[in-house]
Amino acid sequence: MVKLSKLIGMGAFLIFCLVPVIFLCLLGQDLFKIESAFEEASTYQYHFVLVPEELDNEYWQLVQKGAADAAAVHRVYLEYLGPKQADLDDHLKTIDMAIAGHVDGIMTQGLDAKKYKPLFQKAREKGIDIVTVDTDAEGSKRQVYVGTDNYYSGFIAGQALIADTKGEQYVGIVTGRLDVIHQKLRVQGFQDAVSAEKRIHIAGIEESAITKSGASGAAYKLLNDHAKLTAFYGTSALDGVGIIQATAQYRSAADFYVLAFDTLPDTIQALDEGKIDAVVVQHPYEMGYQAVESLVRLQKGEKEEPLQHTGTSVMRREDLSLNQTERPQGVQP
Ligand code: BGC
Repeated sequence: MVKLSKLIGMGAFLIFCLVPVIFLCLLGQDLFKIESAFEEASTYQYHFVLVPEELDNEYWQLVQKGAADAAAVHRVYLEYLGPKQADLDDHLKTIDMAIAGHVDGIMTQGLDAKKYKPLFQKAREKGIDIVTVDTDAEGSKRQVYVGTDNYYSGFIAGQALIADTKGEQYVGIVTGRLDVIHQKLRVQGFQDAVSAEKRIHIAGIEESAITKSGASGAAYKLLNDHAKLTAFYGTSALDGVGIIQATAQYRSAADFYVLAFDTLPDTIQALDEGKIDAVVVQHPYEMGYQAVESLVRLQKGEKEEPLQHTGTSVMRREDLSLNQTERPQGVQP
């Protein structure tokens, strides 16, 4: 009996001693976390935000990768915020939130100059630097544009179609969105390039909402509406793979000449397999990298060249013999 009460007493004593020790250890850990988060935040020099058209888009993930690599070099705290799926209002709202958060710099597209102008003006009035990436908002208060010359990229797409085809051509255009400036410019450049070539006819244009399923839906519609179709031109990153999904089921995919945009892995594979004939190359990684560097220079008060075009070219199957690191999306500035 005595033994039992002794044991209970010792147990209670141990619990009494251990609880504060455990508590202090846990508290210590939390304090350490807070301290290291504080140290981490204070090691950053600038706070920038990249606002893409669509977060879960492979093309934009390349832009983000470039931006993140440059951010690591320049001690930038980088955020990647935006709509999960392309939505103009959400895009504008995210930029507005970044302005309210008093970040140092914003990288984003100027998808529709009219709607973005007041926001960019507001940002600049608060001392926030703006670099447009991929799509420019001409005439706005953005300081720099880093990205493709979108009109030119459409023009070389048209030239590629002329060079690669013979005889009458009826082209169906699948475009990311009908209401945004870079897609309009890619269509305009293409139209201008083929306008003097009497054998080339633009049969119709449909919107993909920048998704693969949207692109195949748009291609189906074009195929149904225009029996004579011989070629397709897709103006955003997932349009090419969507188009070939539709043509494969309609009749032999080889019957169509397909011109796509961007060197994402599925598009390159389709080019390799002969399902896509040519691809307009952009440099999303480089855009992200250069945009961060440009913002850093603006923060230091350096003068920046307002138009910084990243290269554009057309790639065909024979160009795929280049080794992977030399391929456009792998190129690091
Ligand atoms: C365009 C981006 C667009 C993406 C959509 C690219 O070709 O440059 O602006 O968001 O396609 O997948």
